[in-house]
Amino acid sequence: MSAGTKALVLDDDAPSLSNTTSPVIRFLKGAHLLGQCAVNPGETIVEHAEACGIRLPTNCTSGTCGTCMVSLILGEVPLPEELPPGLDDFLVGEGARLGCIGRPRGDVDIDIRPPI
Ligand code: FES
Repeated sequence: MSAGTKALVLDDDAPSLSNTTSPVIRFLKGAHLLGQCAVNPGETIVEHAEACGIRLPTNCTSGTCGTCMVSLILGEVPLPEELPPGLDDFLVGEGARLGCIGRPRGDVDIDIRPPI
């Protein structure tokens, strides 16, 4: 190393670049990207949509009516062990998730159009 140059020293405790990237939720309507924001663990899809300036329709906010139904295009939104009244196996097979109770895990893409 020549005089005047400084070596880049990385702290062993410093997060790696890959650890500094937060998971992202993206909201689409078909091929059109409506918005995206960082995933806040524990928050619902509806709460993330509001943070992105997108209003998803809701009614019961408890997984019963299906008003908030969206399509999971990519990623993981875990389902409860017992499906709520607003979902059935067919809808889940088509990618349906309920925005009021679905909590994204990691990067996810959500189509705000219902699956059917
Ligand atoms: S608002 Fe009724 S199921 Fe989500």
